[in-house]
Amino acid sequence: MKTIGILTSGGDAPGMNAAIRSIVRTCIYNGIRVMGIRFGYDGLIHGNIYEMNVSSVADIIQRGGTILGTARSDEFMTDRGKQKAVGILEDFGIDGIIVLGGDGSFRGAEALAELGVNTMGIPCTIDNDMGYTDYTIGFFTAVETVSSAISKLRDTSSSHGRANIIEVMGRECGDIALYSGVSSGAESILVPEVPFRIEDVTNKIESGRKRGKLHHLIVLAEGVGRAHEMQGQIEKITGVETKVTVLGHVQRGGHPSSYDRLLGTEMGSKAVELLIQGKTSMALATRNNQIEIIPIKEAVSIKNTFNQSLYRIAQEVSI
Ligand code: F6P
Repeated sequence: MKTIGILTSGGDAPGMNAAIRSIVRTCIYNGIRVMGIRFGYDGLIHGNIYEMNVSSVADIIQRGGTILGTARSDEFMTDRGKQKAVGILEDFGIDGIIVLGGDGSFRGAEALAELGVNTMGIPCTIDNDMGYTDYTIGFFTAVETVSSAISKLRDTSSSHGRANIIEVMGRECGDIALYSGVSSGAESILVPEVPFRIEDVTNKIESGRKRGKLHHLIVLAEGVGRAHEMQGQIEKITGVETKVTVLGHVQRGGHPSSYDRLLGTEMGSKAVELLIQGKTSMALATRNNQIEIIPIKEAVSIKNTFNQSLYRIAQEVSI
């Protein structure tokens, strides 16, 4: 292993930069050349690649986003695109690549592995929707951002005696809604994994009112539906003024939490070590506080499991 390439792909996630820094420094420490591939698979097939050094990753551990840039590439998805990628890697003398991203990015890495490229995958997405690992890099930073926003909304919700719906990201996964809802004491948490009736929400608003509770915070995962549609239903049934906040891309940015920096640093270092040992087509995971590896092919086929136990606790403590 003489030269390793790094690529970030799909939605950015806080902590990606910590992982990039770790990969670059571990490579250099071990006498390996390291190349940054800009803008994901799209940059790869267009040869948008540069050599990195110790200073390339100075002052980035605390920064959100990805210094390499990211993109989605239709061209890479074609057979021709993948062949082109293999050719470019050969041209630049890259012996192995480390891919930072979610499911889609891992499928790209697996496709390259099938064409003979040495690959490693590091799970990075705020959604935490990769079932093979307990947590993905970026998830807890997003949870922190959402919890902090909900706490601010709680103040104004109480002052005005309103209900507030906070729509959060996560695609088909309710983890951001669940973890941030629990940590900010939201009254209702609506996730795609658990069916609900609108009456479950409105009855709670009404019983809360009877006890003199002024605020009502509803965290809605985007995979359930749109907050603006629910707003009208709640107002019609309860007569309580209801406001909507769609947090959007603010959830993807910001300083990574210490946990995401640590995970990025550990996984980045481990990915290089594994490539040096001649391992390939593996995905890194954190399970029970240990860094583990499993084949990428298996990683992308494992379905996400919803934390039912935390959801039950949320139901019990938000009565
Ligand atoms: O996968 C991360 C994510 O932020 C999802 O939660 C969200 O649905 C999606 O990406 C938004 O994608 P884009 O940045 O392309 O709008």
